[in-house]
Amino acid sequence: MKYHIVTYGCQMNVHESEKIAGLLRGVGYTEEAPVEEADIVVFNTCCIRENAENHAFGNIGALKKLKRRKKGLLIAVGGCMAQEAGKAALLVKKFPFIDIVFGTHNVAELPALIARKKQEKKVVSLLEDRAETEDGAQAFRTSYPNAWVNITYGCNNFCTYCIVPYVRGREKSRAADRILEEAEALVAAGYKEITLLGQNVNSYRDNDTDFPALLDRVASIPGKFRLRFMTSHPKDFSERLVAVMKKHDKICNLLHLPAQSGSSRILSLMNRRYTREQYLADVALFKKEIPDGEITTDLIVGFPTETEADFEETLSLVREADFSSAFTFIYSPRTGTKAATMDGQIPEEVSKERIARLIEQVNENTRRKSEKYVGKTIEILCEDYDAKKGLYLGREPLGRMGYFKSDKHCVGEFVNLKVTRANGVSLYGDLV
Ligand code: 5AD
Ligand code: SF4
Repeated sequence: MKYHIVTYGCQMNVHESEKIAGLLRGVGYTEEAPVEEADIVVFNTCCIRENAENHAFGNIGALKKLKRRKKGLLIAVGGCMAQEAGKAALLVKKFPFIDIVFGTHNVAELPALIARKKQEKKVVSLLEDRAETEDGAQAFRTSYPNAWVNITYGCNNFCTYCIVPYVRGREKSRAADRILEEAEALVAAGYKEITLLGQNVNSYRDNDTDFPALLDRVASIPGKFRLRFMTSHPKDFSERLVAVMKKHDKICNLLHLPAQSGSSRILSLMNRRYTREQYLADVALFKKEIPDGEITTDLIVGFPTETEADFEETLSLVREADFSSAFTFIYSPRTGTKAATMDGQIPEEVSKERIARLIEQVNENTRRKSEKYVGKTIEILCEDYDAKKGLYLGREPLGRMGYFKSDKHCVGEFVNLKVTRANGVSLYGDLV
């Protein structure tokens, strides 16, 4: 039997889909296949912005004909959208051909739901919070040489625009010993990069082990590998974290620190609990201690009441914090969040015009910083071969993609690249 998984949204979902694949493989789905050949199609959805939801709606709807043609085909919908208040009912109403709906805490129960569905005619659904942090799912990893490792689930921050705390529940940390065991096994299995994942890794805690302590332990595992983590909330950023980053060469000197806005007034309305000045102080501390480090960020434009002056503060933050790149978003009102009912919602044309200017500023930073690499030799962890370009590709520690020719297969190896040309976040060069 064959499976097909469609993933929307962030790295957390990408890794969750690896777990779903592992679970399906445990119950007789032996191979991944295009949607037309699959016996089960799983949608791992995201609801963080409206366009992610619209995508999923479109793709699920498109399966109506296939489902009619192929009697045994199972369609399962999970992820954040399934967990959103009222959305599961709406999905099933709109698409009565859905067989299974499972919530963000019920991934490990998917095999049981499949078994139940084979006995029951109507849609089988499970949307229940679970307290445990070990799901027992053996991920079928597809991102070699990188491996994702969850350290926290959920979020307690309630940024006023964000739906995550409502669909992912309260923050829970996995036991440090379990994380260590998983990371050690991955290094022993030949993975060359570990990325610790959480909505807010900086608030990780298992008894006395906080995030810097956990990072220190994982970075102390012997062997050559890179260590990354995301995402950090600026309010929990600490000197100790920087000290641990500095202590270990294995930890990449790239900090993803979502600022969201450059205006302290907007940050307060967003309930981010830091000001522009405090954010810039964190940046200064990081740059002082780790001068060759870089910072990337997330930025939202068009939050309710955002004025041109507020927006210009976001633009100037991009310059002052000297971000090497940024994910930029137009504010998307999410039902149930505080910001969705605020006065002063910004017209779409205004947000579109602002995001275009913001992207231009971010690209300017990216270009300027990448050009400095020309002539330098950098270490690349080769990830893949691009048959179309005839080039191997992989990342340098600070996240830029390097492209190069190689006579021998080198996926999973560290190689040195002399950069000859830069194009945005892409670097081109020759092996040395
Ligand atoms: N609208 C736009 N962007 C959002 N994000 C979260 N919620 C929203 C929303 N309602 C962005 C934030 C966050 C990233 C993962 O998604 O920038 O850091
Ligand atoms: Fe959402 Fe804020 Fe939690 Fe990030 S920290 S998931 S933006 S509520």
